[in-house]
Amino acid sequence: MKFTTSKSKLKGKPRSCCVVGIFQGKQLQGLAAQVDQLSAGALSAHINSGGFEAKENESIVLYDVPGLKWQKLIAIGYGKADELDVKRYRQVAETVVKKLRELHVTGADLWLLADEVNGCDHKVKARHLIEAMGNAMYRFDKMKSSADKPKPMAIAFQVATEVQLKKTRQGVQQGKAILDGVNLAKDLANLPGNVCNPSYLAQQARNLQKKYAIKTKVLNQSQMEKLGMDALLSVAKGSSQPAKLIIMEYHGAAAKQSPVVLVGKGLTFDAGGISLKPAAKMDEMKYDMCGAASVFGALVAAAELKLPINVSGVIPSSENLPDGNANKPGDIVTSMSGKTIEILNTDAEGRLILCDALTYVERFKPAAVVDIATLTGACVVALGQHASGLLANDQDLADELLQAGEKSLDRAWLLPLWQDYQSQLDSNFADIANIGGPSAGTITAACFLSRFTNKYSWAHLDIAGTAWRSGGKDKGATGRVVPLLSQFLIDRSEKS
Ligand code: BES
Ligand code: MN
Ligand code: ZN
Repeated sequence: MKFTTSKSKLKGKPRSCCVVGIFQGKQLQGLAAQVDQLSAGALSAHINSGGFEAKENESIVLYDVPGLKWQKLIAIGYGKADELDVKRYRQVAETVVKKLRELHVTGADLWLLADEVNGCDHKVKARHLIEAMGNAMYRFDKMKSSADKPKPMAIAFQVATEVQLKKTRQGVQQGKAILDGVNLAKDLANLPGNVCNPSYLAQQARNLQKKYAIKTKVLNQSQMEKLGMDALLSVAKGSSQPAKLIIMEYHGAAAKQSPVVLVGKGLTFDAGGISLKPAAKMDEMKYDMCGAASVFGALVAAAELKLPINVSGVIPSSENLPDGNANKPGDIVTSMSGKTIEILNTDAEGRLILCDALTYVERFKPAAVVDIATLTGACVVALGQHASGLLANDQDLADELLQAGEKSLDRAWLLPLWQDYQSQLDSNFADIANIGGPSAGTITAACFLSRFTNKYSWAHLDIAGTAWRSGGKDKGATGRVVPLLSQFLIDRSEKS
């Protein structure tokens, strides 16, 4: 998809398609009104006849209207003006893509930016349009032997003034960068476990160096052994694929500035290990590396935007399979931090690979650490698919992330990380157990991680419910929480 921006011209060379937005029950305004005038009232005629009410996502197509340079004119309904917020605006953008596809249009002048969306300037509007249109365009057909490739689409944003042009260009730049990050995260996540294994992720991380100002380092198992990362390595024991610790560094600021560190769970397939998962929907556990995918996406967005900030991405990656060598319930391992862990359930493996990565990142003297993980089924029960779970040892950091989630429409919800829950992790035989019983599973998982994050300001995002859509026709990765993380990094870089 290609996006350009220009000042609108109502007359001139013939063009194939134009999209205008119309508010329900309101006089035509702005560009829609001008188009209507030029076409001697073709639009208003349809509205006045009751043929088009401009309800939310309603649309009409007019062909070869005399007076207009466009062959097709698509009018999309916004619904009521006072109800048009960013969320609805994004839905409208999705409808536009659907419509363009139906009509086999490969290029369109989009005139939606001039319209008033509650509390948004042109920058915000342009960015959300791009993200929403990109989402609607996305297909994953890398694994199909033949696929009819959707034709590339060129969207030209039309604005009225120089100031709008400037703002729109900023929004387009941001939107494109975030969309590239989202698409990369989706692509990695949608790949099957037999392709996307820890070594594959490591290679993708190395590949980023060719295109972006990112430096990659990959630790192999013997290097991790020397560091004492036995919790992480224990998870990989049941698999023939070696574990990897992937480290990517983006330097956008002075070397002395401490980095924001993103740690992503990169479990490329989670069968549960000896505590085997049930068969139904087990295929979806290829998505257990969506935390890692988010880290890839956020780094790419930061690098594309050349944000003046340092960001490190650290990805512990492994498979979790049952095998004669696999962890057994009751096994005790020693983490890199020195703490011993009783593995009461081998399916609570995410925290085992994350805890060693969280100890490893101490060496970066981080400004903040955010880990992202498809960590608990309990989070899907608690928050469903709309909000990611957020827990933190620093309220300011939590607030920053919550705000970034609101702005990017990739929202998170704060859960308590109270001391009261910590005793659920008591073990009779080791320093800590890897499960905390049936209640408050998302919180006790975060409590476990919190034992390894005392040295820095830290937040944890549980994306088990938000990272992919389950079952059905919509099944697939969502690219969350790339928008949230990108916004967080943008906001941080503007402050520093
Ligand atoms: N990757 C899963 C969490 C998960 C499950 C995410 C289903 C999305 C959908 C994680 O490794 C896991 O298995 N967690 C266990 C923890 C339990 C054993 C304490 C869970 O949630 O059941
Ligand atoms: Mn598991
Ligand atoms: Zn898992």
